[in-house]
Amino acid sequence: MMENHKTKWTKKDLLGLRDLSSDEIELILDTAKSFSEVSQRDVKKVPVLRGKTVVNLFLEPSTRTRVSFELAEKRLSADTISMAGGSSSMTKGESLWDTIANIEALKVDLIVMRHGSSGAPHRISNYTKVGIVNAGDGINEHPTQGLLDIFTLREIKGKIKGLKVVFVGDILHSRVARSNIWGLTKLGAEVVICGPKTLVPWGIEELGVKVIHDVKKALDGADAVTLLRIQMERQNETLFPSIREYASTFGLNTELFKYAKPDAILMHPGPVNRGVEIESALADSAQSYILKQVTNGIAVRMAVLYLLSGVLKNEK
Ligand code: CP
Repeated sequence: MMENHKTKWTKKDLLGLRDLSSDEIELILDTAKSFSEVSQRDVKKVPVLRGKTVVNLFLEPSTRTRVSFELAEKRLSADTISMAGGSSSMTKGESLWDTIANIEALKVDLIVMRHGSSGAPHRISNYTKVGIVNAGDGINEHPTQGLLDIFTLREIKGKIKGLKVVFVGDILHSRVARSNIWGLTKLGAEVVICGPKTLVPWGIEELGVKVIHDVKKALDGADAVTLLRIQMERQNETLFPSIREYASTFGLNTELFKYAKPDAILMHPGPVNRGVEIESALADSAQSYILKQVTNGIAVRMAVLYLLSGVLKNEK
């Protein structure tokens, strides 16, 4: 798998796209391309992680990411254990650090971790030899989602450099937006951010993006539009008048989507709130690649697990 790529993978963890070079991002995407063929086979399995153990530690709810990681691990022939916060000894007062130390004592190779606090996987990674894959930390990053979004875009458009990619929605609380911004700008895309002023973080332009609050102007000439849901679970205060008003201004429908290029693609990391950030008919339209993103997530996660396991093997 990708032995001849110009870049070698050297990191034991995947914590965010902020930490990766453009070559490292391309190595993951190219490796994922070779793994996507495995999921087309009758027997969807390769032995590259045979004898390795992966623990999925999800301390926040998840459908796509958790199932996708579990399938990726099984398709690579790894032994896997999945734990949710409510069923772990953290409910009895054990710290995250002690939980990770105990998992390490059980001779696990990789931990895939989702945590509600930004930076939690980064702190843990300093204290353990186990490889850590960030499956979403607070509002910081969701690197495998960013990678699968970029993979999908590259697969359909054939390139990333020079594309105009627009993100509409709750950018303030979106780890998906941050991972996409780091990755897309490193690969040369033009990134536009659109949402209510209260849901766009101050200073985000410093990451190399343009902010346009008017949806029609933001969509003008877009090659791809990614919609983000309002993350109510992360909002303690009122940041917009009502869901109804938000939907009428920033909710995307078939008519508004015409402001993008005729061959523009629509993406969404999920979960989708139909009738809020997206009209149902648009979500199910031919220009929507929402389910293609989900399918591509398996190949991308297989690539990440494969590359990290190579580093852990060399360290032993
Ligand atoms: N995209 C995403 O992270 O979805 P889940 O929360 O269902 O994993």
